[in-house]
Amino acid sequence: MSHETFYLTTPIYYVNATPHLGHAYTTIMADTMARFQQFRLGPERVYFLTGTDEHGDKIAQAAAQTGESPQAYADRISGIFQETWRRLGLAPNQFIRTTSEPHKRAVQRLLQQIYDAGDIYFGEYGGQYCFGCERFYTEKELQDGRCPDHQTTPTFIKEQNYFFRMGKYQDWLIDHIRHHPDFIRPERFRNEVLSFLKDPLEDLCISRPRTRLEWGIPLPFDVQYVTYVWFDALVNYISALDWPDGEAFQRFWPSAQHLIAKDILKPHAIYWPIILKAAGLPLYRHLNVHGYWKIEEAKMSKSRGSVVRPLDLADKYGVEAFRYFVLREMTFGLDASFSEEALVARLNADLANDLGNLYSRVLKLIQRYYDGRISESPGERGLVDAVRAAVTDVTAATERFAFSEALAAIWNLVSATNKYLVTNEPWKQDPGDARTKVVLFSAAETLRAIAILLWPFLPQTAERMLQGLGAPEPLTSIHFDELLSSSWHLGSRQGRVQEVEPLFPRIQATAAKPSPVKTGSTAVPETVADQITIEEFRRVDLRVAEVIEATAIPGSKKLVKLRVRLQDEERTVVAGLKEHYPPESWAGKRIILVANLRPTKLMGIASQGMVLAAEDESGRIVLLTPEQPISSGSKVR
Ligand code: MSP
Repeated sequence: MSHETFYLTTPIYYVNATPHLGHAYTTIMADTMARFQQFRLGPERVYFLTGTDEHGDKIAQAAAQTGESPQAYADRISGIFQETWRRLGLAPNQFIRTTSEPHKRAVQRLLQQIYDAGDIYFGEYGGQYCFGCERFYTEKELQDGRCPDHQTTPTFIKEQNYFFRMGKYQDWLIDHIRHHPDFIRPERFRNEVLSFLKDPLEDLCISRPRTRLEWGIPLPFDVQYVTYVWFDALVNYISALDWPDGEAFQRFWPSAQHLIAKDILKPHAIYWPIILKAAGLPLYRHLNVHGYWKIEEAKMSKSRGSVVRPLDLADKYGVEAFRYFVLREMTFGLDASFSEEALVARLNADLANDLGNLYSRVLKLIQRYYDGRISESPGERGLVDAVRAAVTDVTAATERFAFSEALAAIWNLVSATNKYLVTNEPWKQDPGDARTKVVLFSAAETLRAIAILLWPFLPQTAERMLQGLGAPEPLTSIHFDELLSSSWHLGSRQGRVQEVEPLFPRIQATAAKPSPVKTGSTAVPETVADQITIEEFRRVDLRVAEVIEATAIPGSKKLVKLRVRLQDEERTVVAGLKEHYPPESWAGKRIILVANLRPTKLMGIASQGMVLAAEDESGRIVLLTPEQPISSGSKVR
């Protein structure tokens, strides 16, 4: 008997933000893979880990902004992540939190072990530090002297810290990656890492003085310091298995695979293998790296107000339609673009039309012709072969995280079955004919195979389909070999087709209409206003402005006073956005201003313009900002 296991992790997500499309996507992928492996190996051999990363500057700052203690803040946001995964039907075996005691102990133990082995030393370092990124930048990495991510000027910091001797392991790591071609996959990320490793690898600063950062795990060999982000976060992958002594560690670590997006490639492909090596631990097997979700070609970002919330979409279109869309749309390793219109198009075409109609059609005929019972007949050769081919293709693609390909292979089978029905037209035939029975039996049995193949991707839909087909087997017990041999046995189980509900309702295209635009103070009515001419539009002078500073207005819950720059001119603008954008979040932002609005006094302050923002149905408001940095004063046309 094989003792093969499967251990898969997602990144642990920072609690300085609430879950968005990107976090949901990785976790949905991991859930899909875990379910697929449960098929292969049985549920007890599979372990799926996710969780939250709760220490560091960013989190301490986010907590300070809400007036909570860091721990209370982390508890609250971590709870939101857990609740979101539950509502999306994601079922990790464990949700780890880096503020838990066992994790902290494991981090300290690992640090001590590496310190004792001589790979951590005390030294001094000075450099340009971005507080938003919690890292030092080299001059080369900065863009016009600013952080490429936050567009803020970094601060020069010089301090003594602890360093991890990474450089020492550079050749060993290159060698390991060369000898294990699928250590990092897909290949483009392996190449990226190898090319990065052509330059000398610097040692890694792994601490922060406690005087500057309290919210972290103290170094066991110097309590004046706390660990810096990565030495804390990465260790979750083994602390979750009760390293060093845990049985789970023995059982699952040998089969470890990580799933991440490309943003955290370097820590996972370089720091983590070297940490493991320095501690004398075996390496993980594969690092699987997916691309980034973009919104209209731009990075999803809170400051740009383009954050997609998974629960909003799940509430609007259903959990499984959302899940299907993201799994089908993104090619593994490449970036993808998210749009609600594309989601609706796929939902209507693939789910409601191709799959939903096939399912309803077959089940309704069986009900009408045979009172829901279907007696065993020989399976149609062509469909039996099509199922075999699909099983092979789906398995091969799924194993390497190519979920889009796997779903395309399932939909090939759906199309083949639809074509088969159109060719044979059972609805025009005599139910008593042996041939009619062959056709409907074969179509029903193919639907059963489709449901089983679909289970890792769309578990609820698969279960509903099997229920409808009168074959409600506890899916995880279906042995993978049975699926591979695609034995046809529906008839022999005497299943009875159930009442048929449509699998997916069609969505009217209008449901995906974009949110109405709202201004900083008053909302434009939701109905489309009377049409205007281009000349009328041109009378509105829209400009890009840079916020210099923002201050609260005493006595006002909603208003915030902004100093903004338009080229060489400075202005004061009052915006009713304080509840959505607190004063401390404004400085450095570029906004869109209605620059020729007649000045008005708000709370005694003269406001010279109006800030543009968008509001959705739930009342969430986001600022409109330029998609790329552009000089202040630029005209919006
Ligand atoms: N806490 C660290 C990870 C530590 S792992 C030991 C971190 N957290 S994060 O909250 O920023 O999450 C990053 C991860 O979220 C990405 O690697 C990816 O899994 C997911 N995504 C966040 N935004 C994303 C997109 N726009 N698109 C796809 N996935 C992205 O980094």
